[in-house]
Amino acid sequence: MLRFVHISDSHLSTPQYANYGHQSYPNLEAVIEAINNLPFAVDFVLHTGDVAQNGAPEEYALAKPLLARLRFPIYYANGNHDNADLLQRELVGLQQPSERYDQVFSAQGMQIAIFDSANRRDHTGLLTAAQLEALRRLCTPEGAPLILVLHHPPVPLDAPWIDQGWAVPNRPPYGSMLLANWQAFQAAIAPARQRLRGVFFGHVHHAHQVWHDGVFYCAAPSTFGQLASYPGQLAPQPTPEQPAAFNLVSVDAEQLTVRQCAVRRPNVHLAAC
Ligand SMILES: [Fe+2]
Repeated sequence: MLRFVHISDSHLSTPQYANYGHQSYPNLEAVIEAINNLPFAVDFVLHTGDVAQNGAPEEYALAKPLLARLRFPIYYANGNHDNADLLQRELVGLQQPSERYDQVFSAQGMQIAIFDSANRRDHTGLLTAAQLEALRRLCTPEGAPLILVLHHPPVPLDAPWIDQGWAVPNRPPYGSMLLANWQAFQAAIAPARQRLRGVFFGHVHHAHQVWHDGVFYCAAPSTFGQLASYPGQLAPQPTPEQPAAFNLVSVDAEQLTVRQCAVRRPNVHLAAC
């Protein structure tokens, strides 16, 4: 049985940074404490990106000792707010960072592949032609159970502001939050459908699950703050009443289980899971 914790979208900046009624640093601190207090071990923690708010060196300097408190290994997907170079150097300790931070590793007999989907321009995601080719090579029908990871949703989520983007007065419109070439992503992974246990992502600041074309897609909530993403919703809306949270994922040859665990926000009385 593989067990991992899925966290996402921490948006660390200064220790006091707050937005939408949420504080990023104390919320992540509370999430890490909750993970460390789990009454069992997990194989790793998966962070699906946006560790930092602006991708600045001081933000990764703040993140490094905080995330080092985790008692489990951690793997990162690069997010659109991240700096891929600093993330690899400061948080992973790589001396020679890749242009695109893609990784493949194994745990409990399963293959986990993480793709860097940040387009380096805005919040819409994109995989390059080379990444799609690597995805096609990976997604053969035969092989170990497979888990795919990226920052951006590679499937529509039935929320217009995520799927199509949104308008703001006196500003250029915001584009879609999706992976721009999500249809190409889905075509690439289709041959591996039988061994693909799930596709895990972040970016949308909301727990979200989709079953599409025989594949399970799952977004982790944000460790910072949640955004509402209801059907028909035309723009993101903060939900400061909702706590920070993480997903706990268990997967074996027959079954995948996802539990969402809410974490009491510092100075806010909310129920824990
Ligand atoms: Fe993001």
